[in-house]
Amino acid sequence: MPSTPVAAATTETSIAPTTAAEVVDSMERMHGKHPGFRRSGARGACFTGTFTPTGEAAALTTAGHLQDIPVPAVARFSNSEGNPAARDGVPVARGMAVRFALPDGDETDLIAMTVPLFVASNPRQFLDLTEALRPDPATGGPDPAKVQAYLGAHPHLVEAVTQCPPVPVSYATAAYWAVHAFVWTDAAGNRQPVRYRWEPEAGRAELSEEEAAARTDHYLTDELRERLGRGPVVYTLRVQLGEDGDPTDDPSVAWPQERTEITAGRLELTGPVDDQRLWDTQRFSPVRLTDGIELSDDPVLAFRANAYAESYRRRSREG
Ligand code: HEM
Repeated sequence: MPSTPVAAATTETSIAPTTAAEVVDSMERMHGKHPGFRRSGARGACFTGTFTPTGEAAALTTAGHLQDIPVPAVARFSNSEGNPAARDGVPVARGMAVRFALPDGDETDLIAMTVPLFVASNPRQFLDLTEALRPDPATGGPDPAKVQAYLGAHPHLVEAVTQCPPVPVSYATAAYWAVHAFVWTDAAGNRQPVRYRWEPEAGRAELSEEEAAARTDHYLTDELRERLGRGPVVYTLRVQLGEDGDPTDDPSVAWPQERTEITAGRLELTGPVDDQRLWDTQRFSPVRLTDGIELSDDPVLAFRANAYAESYRRRSREG
């Protein structure tokens, strides 16, 4: 596979920390303030398992979990809302944050959600969107005029903002996209832009509106626990290989469907983690990478590091 040149990665420090605080403030205004909880993905549950690489990625990256040795992994599934009491039976994105324990003792994270495109091309646009989505006290919902104004100002984001997240039958029947481009590097330093997707081995399945209305508020976590009682839940890690000209700096734009995809491995979850409290207070990070994987030049990806750190600082202080 020829290496594809990509621009150098943006670093955490190139983003003003005050902007991360502004965004987290705005997320709090959008979802309400819930002390001690994540400002997004507030309600979640963690499950343990093993990730077994296929070896298909090994020629393209030196990353320890993508070679030939199975590694322990933990996945945290969450409802994307910042309110821990939010209902599961509504069309919002769900998250799947995975931590891999690498053979050399290091760790790396992969954070994904149930929609393929992000709703902004840069942090400023995300801030403007969260302001536009802030509930109007009169109606309890966003002001449609503000959302329309946002879309009018950013017509290229209409597809991403209007994509309707599925209401899945189960966390085990949803696909999860990491959305951003990352860059794999091999032993010779060749660079390959990639995009990740977890595909459920059980197949994708959604609830109808009536079925969703009949589910309990947190049916997704309960269902996954029950399902795991009957046997493992499995996802395959599909990786799209970018080619020259595919944008690596905009998470609101998909790459062409016909790009080559490989299966990098298989995640088999077997049950809840022993210490749910410990795992639920962890900080998963989109920039906790390892040798063989680098950030792309996506400004949203670099910015997330600061926003997650800010949310973690606040929720840790709150206890
Ligand atoms: C400007 C862009 C974004 C901002 C500012 C943002 C902000 C946040 C914040 C503040 C948290 C809580 C972190 C914590 O307290 O540990 C969070 C969690 C989360 N975000 Fe984002 N996010 C962004 C984009 C994304 C994207 C593109 C994805 C999907 C690929 C995503 C998926 C998630 C998930 C799954 C969680 C829960 C993680 C966990 O279980 O610990 N976010 N986000």
